[in-house]
Amino acid sequence: MLEAILLVGGQGTRLRPLTISTPKPMLPVAGFACTEHQIALAREAGVRRIILGTSYRAEVFEEYFGHGETFGVELVYAVEDEPLGTGGAIRNAATHLTCGQNDPVLVFNGDVLTGLDIAGLVQKWRDANADVALYLTCVEDPRPYGLVPTDAKGRVLEFREKPITPEEIVTDQINAGCYVFKRSVIDAIPSDRPVSVERETFPELLAANRMVLGVVDDGYWLDLGTPLAFAKGSADLVLGIAPSPLLVGRTGEALIEASAQVDSSASIIGGTYVGHNAVIGAGAVITGSVIFADVEVGSDSRITNSIVSTAAKISSDCQIVDTVIAERAQIGIGVTLDPGTLVFPDDTVN
Ligand code: GTP
Repeated sequence: MLEAILLVGGQGTRLRPLTISTPKPMLPVAGFACTEHQIALAREAGVRRIILGTSYRAEVFEEYFGHGETFGVELVYAVEDEPLGTGGAIRNAATHLTCGQNDPVLVFNGDVLTGLDIAGLVQKWRDANADVALYLTCVEDPRPYGLVPTDAKGRVLEFREKPITPEEIVTDQINAGCYVFKRSVIDAIPSDRPVSVERETFPELLAANRMVLGVVDDGYWLDLGTPLAFAKGSADLVLGIAPSPLLVGRTGEALIEASAQVDSSASIIGGTYVGHNAVIGAGAVITGSVIFADVEVGSDSRITNSIVSTAAKISSDCQIVDTVIAERAQIGIGVTLDPGTLVFPDDTVN
């Protein structure tokens, strides 16, 4: 039985103000927490026991997921009093593993949306007798990510975090935030201090000539770390571009919860999600956006590629593009918000 560790303890600073009250992996993407999509994906690949490495707002996870009974997996919590970084979190979670020293352990960053073939990644780890197998994806602009060049057989040559100059961009393959570790490799990570797996553990393994395998998978991948990416990820799920076992048979132009009230003249398109009890007025046009529960949108307002959090109120005739509106914020009649605007919880904009 394959065990997994999900890293969900980060502060999610790039998604502020949404992450002030809700940890990033618990924000709803197409109506389900990102973590829930990941649990479903892992379950589909045969994982039945998952350790959640929590720190920031740890209690929110346990309140929602409990011990996993309704999610078809056993969930265990490894809480860090102080954030231990990605490597420290994996090490801390490993105290709850039940597998043997040579067994594989699946590790996932909590903000990654993917259709990765998990069983295939584990098989490649096995075939190569690897210490770690990393899921790699190719992106057009790798600058914000960790670059992972490999040789012809997939052996990782180097870890290069966030390159700046053109000479530093040696590949378009990036670390996609999902790994298969040999259990003994995790147990060797220092347990008494913060450790970054990307900056410390992986480079050390290479320096020691250990077998670190890169596996390029060209299926869907998106890091939900920024507001624009978050809105895109949700829209891609709703449209069926991003796969999720939770949305089979429910994809289309929009995903609207049954309790939402949407005026028949409103246009909800481009993969927009509309949450429970939201009210959308006449003539409103909402494209590629995430509308949380209890939101009100007035008549003829246009919302594009934006996130509107719980119980926010948007009056009529507003223009909102590439914007984050946090919970209970109020936007007055006829307001146009500049792209990139962040409206904080309970704020009013007129
Ligand atoms: P930003 O602050 O916006 O960069 O987001 P983040 O805090 O989530 O950091 P990042 O995106 O680099 O983290 C990658 C993954 O690791 C996310 O799923 C985080 O939840 C998780 N993570 C990062 N640091 C820690 C930590 O100290 N402890 C635990 N348990 N998880 C962490």
